[in-house]
Amino acid sequence: MPISTDEFNLLRDFIIKHSEIEVKPEKTYLLESRLSRLMVELGAANFTEFYHNATKDVSGKIRDKIIDAMTTNETYWFRDSKPWTLMENSIFPKLVDSMREHRKQKIRIWCAASSTGQEPYSIIMLLDDMISSGKLKGVTLEQFSVLATDISPSVLFLANAGRYNQLAMSRGMSDKYKAKYFKQAGKIWLLDDKIKNRVTFKKFNLQDHPRNLGNFDFVLCRNVAIYFSDKFKRELFSRIHNILEPPGFFLLGSSESLVGYSTSFDMVEQQNAIYYKKK
Ligand SMILES: C[S@@+](CC[C@H](N)C(=O)[O-])C[C@H]1O[C@@H](n2cnc3c(N)ncnc32)[C@H](O)[C@@H]1O
Repeated sequence: MPISTDEFNLLRDFIIKHSEIEVKPEKTYLLESRLSRLMVELGAANFTEFYHNATKDVSGKIRDKIIDAMTTNETYWFRDSKPWTLMENSIFPKLVDSMREHRKQKIRIWCAASSTGQEPYSIIMLLDDMISSGKLKGVTLEQFSVLATDISPSVLFLANAGRYNQLAMSRGMSDKYKAKYFKQAGKIWLLDDKIKNRVTFKKFNLQDHPRNLGNFDFVLCRNVAIYFSDKFKRELFSRIHNILEPPGFFLLGSSESLVGYSTSFDMVEQQNAIYYKKK
């Protein structure tokens, strides 16, 4: 069912209102293809009726399905590799040093758009490997926790299960970590509870202020702000700044930057990757 310009505008505004995700006019085909099936499933005759059904639905279920369909959930293990070298050689050792200095017992990490879980689980696998190989000394894995949030209930469901198919496993997962942290059950790979138990998944819309999530030592907000307006990026980075505890490390996706959006962080470039630190 082709979408008219008016229908595109109505649905584009609806999606921004409920998620901040901006669909540009040149991506009309994306909106059309992602929402067509839902429209048919819900018995709407066209996109206008579909839109009105969504706005009248007090339960919010249609809204949630629309937002779920409009999210791009692309992710993989140890995505982009360089930031992981940075975490291993710089961020995690510095976090542990600061933990000792401030006599803190725990390090809290927030993975702000965690999709199907590869990113938060990669963090815990890396930490476990560093601790068991003696690269991070004087700490236990239990002193680290990751809160992993996403707006999309379907990806959170998959993430929580900690079960991955061959395709997901073929994307960024090394043989070493596969053997160390997974058990194979037919065509499915099951993540070890030791890693799973350190990550808590929660539905959270980045439109909401993260203050209720608590404070964090390290925040990763990778490959999601690219879908938001410049105005909302500024707001989001300022909120992240508020909930970061010093020294306060912050990572964006490899194609993203704070330039033009925030001056409240120092940019640190190391090993061909960039991290930000609360000023
Ligand atoms: C491309 S994935 C990035 C996953 C992971 N951070 C990575 O870099 O591999 C973007 C994720 O952001 C989530 N997302 C989009 N808009 C959001 C919002 N307003 N609040 C929370 N999560 C959102 C999507 O559901 C999706 O899972």
